[in-house]
Amino acid sequence: MARRDAALPSESGRRPAHVYLVGAGSGDVELLTLKAARLLQEADAVVYDRLVGEEVLALIPAGRERYDVGKARGHHSVPQAEIGALLVRLAGEGKSVVRLKGGDPGVFGRMGEELAVLAEAGVGAEIVPGITAASAACAAMGIPLTDRAHAQQLRLVTAQLCRGDGEPDWSTLARRDETLIIYMGLAKIDAICRGLRRGGLPDDWPVMLVANASLPEQASLVGTLTDMPAKLAAEPLPSPCLVVVGSVVSMGAASPARRNGRGDLAPLS
Ligand SMILES: C[S@@+](CC[C@H](N)C(=O)[O-])C[C@H]1O[C@@H](n2cnc3c(N)ncnc32)[C@H](O)[C@@H]1O
Repeated sequence: MARRDAALPSESGRRPAHVYLVGAGSGDVELLTLKAARLLQEADAVVYDRLVGEEVLALIPAGRERYDVGKARGHHSVPQAEIGALLVRLAGEGKSVVRLKGGDPGVFGRMGEELAVLAEAGVGAEIVPGITAASAACAAMGIPLTDRAHAQQLRLVTAQLCRGDGEPDWSTLARRDETLIIYMGLAKIDAICRGLRRGGLPDDWPVMLVANASLPEQASLVGTLTDMPAKLAAEPLPSPCLVVVGSVVSMGAASPARRNGRGDLAPLS
C-alpha cells in the first residue's frame, strides 16, 4: 500500500495537524538534507533555535511565519512549555509546521519533550534527521569518529553531567577504546580533563576542541588532557564548541592538510 504523507490534506481537504521536527545540520547550508530544504520551502511556519545557520534560514521564502525561540527578550530562550504550545497551536491552524533544530533534532535537542507534547495534543509528527555536530566536527578536522585500530566505540554525552554536586563516574567515561564526544563542554574543560585523568586516561591522551564546526569561522585546538585547559585559556574559543576525546584525534596529524569549514584545503596550523 502506498504510504500517504501524513501532512497532506485528506480527501475532506483539511490538513491533519502535523509538525516536522527537522535537523538543520551543523551550520553549513550544504550539509542540510534535501528533505529539510524542501520542507523549509513548503512550510507555512518555521520555529527555530539559536544554532540554526543564517544561510539555512535564508531558504525560508519571504512572507512565511518565522518564530525564533532560541532568543527571547534578554538572552534567554523561550521556555520549553511555550514552544510546545506554539507548535500545537500552529499545527491546529492547519499550517505546515517545521520545527527546525541545530544538528540532529534527536541529539541533545529536547525533541523527546516536544514529541510528547504533540502526541498529547493529538498532533502528528515526523522526524527528519540532520548532521550532528560530532559528525561535522570530526569530518572538518579530517578524522573518523570510529576506527578499527583506535576506537571501536563512540559515546555522545552532554557536559550537563558535570552539573551540580554529583560528579559523573569518570572511570566509565575514561575508555581507551572509544571516542568520547562531549556536547556543551567548553566551560567545563578543566573538570572534564581532570576527571578523565582521574578516571584512568593517560596524561597525554588526545583532546580536540572544535568551535563553529562546518562554518567559515570554524576554529580548533588540539592538545592533551594535561595541556588543553592552558591552551584554551591562552587561545579562547567561542561557542558552540565540541570536545572530542580519544585516540582518533591523533589521526588528524597524519593528513597533509586539514579542511576548513567550507571544505577548502587549509594549511595545518
Ligand atoms: C543543545 S546541543 C544541540 C546539539 C545538536 N542537536 C546537534 O546534533 O549537533 C548544543 C551543543 O552542540 C554543540 N554544537 C552544535 N553545533 C556545533 C557546531 N557547529 N560546532 C561545534 N559544536 C556544535 C556544542 O557543544 C553546543 O553547545
